[in-house]
Amino acid sequence: LLAATAGALAGGWLAAPPRPARAGGDPPPPEAPGARRHDWTFRAQERPARLLGPDGPLSRVWSYSDALLPVLRIRQGDAIRARLENALPEHTSIHWHGVRVPNAMDGVQYLTQPPVGPGQSFTYEFTPPDTGTFFLHPHCNEPGQVGRGLAATLVVEGDEPEPPDADIVLACKDWRLAEDGTWLPFETPQGAGRAGTFGTVRAVNGQRAFAATVPAHGDIRLRLLNLDATRTLLARMEGAAAQVIAIDGNAVEPFALEQWRFGPAMRVDLRVRAPAAGAGFTLLDDFPREPWPLARFTAAPSALAERPFAPRPLRAARVPRADLATAERLPFAFSAAPLGATPDSVAGLPPDDPFARLLLDSLCVGRNTFWAINKSTWPGGGNRQLPPPLAELKAGRSYVFELHNTTPHPHPIHLHGHTFEVLSLSRQALPRFLADTVLLLPRERAEIAFVAAPGRWMFHCHVLEHLETGMMGWLRVT
Ligand code: C2O
Ligand code: CU
Repeated sequence: LLAATAGALAGGWLAAPPRPARAGGDPPPPEAPGARRHDWTFRAQERPARLLGPDGPLSRVWSYSDALLPVLRIRQGDAIRARLENALPEHTSIHWHGVRVPNAMDGVQYLTQPPVGPGQSFTYEFTPPDTGTFFLHPHCNEPGQVGRGLAATLVVEGDEPEPPDADIVLACKDWRLAEDGTWLPFETPQGAGRAGTFGTVRAVNGQRAFAATVPAHGDIRLRLLNLDATRTLLARMEGAAAQVIAIDGNAVEPFALEQWRFGPAMRVDLRVRAPAAGAGFTLLDDFPREPWPLARFTAAPSALAERPFAPRPLRAARVPRADLATAERLPFAFSAAPLGATPDSVAGLPPDDPFARLLLDSLCVGRNTFWAINKSTWPGGGNRQLPPPLAELKAGRSYVFELHNTTPHPHPIHLHGHTFEVLSLSRQALPRFLADTVLLLPRERAEIAFVAAPGRWMFHCHVLEHLETGMMGWLRVT
């Protein structure tokens, strides 16, 4: 794994670096004429699905609707009213990943709301301020709940200066299934203490071999989401010209896609020019060994003519920008747990006891402690005992966080409720861009800058087993 990482680094992976789209480019769309309110009900429950193919066995997925990994589309300015009904056997919540929500809508049990127990419900109400590609997921027992399929994509439209001829969501998420369609353990100490426990079945949009037809010579927007528990993807396009147009939903000055590396929870939007009718193109994952086809496309006859491919930048979001001259700098080290951090236990039961396991699952905690942020691990006993915050920040102040991955594994680090600017990365040649999750390669250092918004915000690695086993904390902003 490490050799492959180093090789990919040596090769470089960008033909041209990203630049945030010009401030003062296209004006943002006028505030919501014709804005709507979307009333949704998400009934989180077990549903049968054939994940191993149309003739395969049934698996018991957990989902928000009859559609697996549904895609919700709204326009910028639209309001959301989403009622979560919990028909699962354990508590859950909805976190709106990457959306700058008011803190009370952030969906973190014990931190921003009470847990939504079996048979209970909770209603989320807010208007997403920014356009882009986002997703939602529970914030409890994430390996088990997201692992069974509990997630959805949220697209906030309104950033396109020229509407594309097709707009396709590609949610990459593998399944951990045995051949008979039953689930394999989502957490293993071997995985959780290293790069995570990988799925056994690769899938995009829930399908093993995702394929789509697009109009010949059309401009296609592909919204790639890495919803996997642990896999880092290295995307490359074969057979069509492709440009990166947004990172975590944030517009960048378009640049040619060579290879794009993105870890769990990260998104990248591409603009692709479809070839002539009858020709195909393939989105590949180049990591870590043989290229893997994530999605195959075929161009169908259309009325569109051949023309030069020069995508215009998307409209940039109006995200508060940190004042670097006055920003306070705070260091955060992401490391293995310090010696002496003890494995969780329940009532003296060994962690692999099925009853302890059940209890720990319902309490939302990992069974082991492998990881830390600034030497603090999320404590055993789960979110019921909130640890002290990693830092106390002042609302409206600018901060630069100096992140350091001291481990030999990659960690995608996510800050709730904020869009930050990635100022520097020590091992990746990427000039500044906006994001909500930043991938720290082994031993990498990064600087991120943002203006603090009031509330209690989670700050954690998005490898699901890592956040469950210690690499998680929170910030208090007052
Ligand atoms: Cu998608 Cu706490 O994160
Ligand atoms: Cu991690």
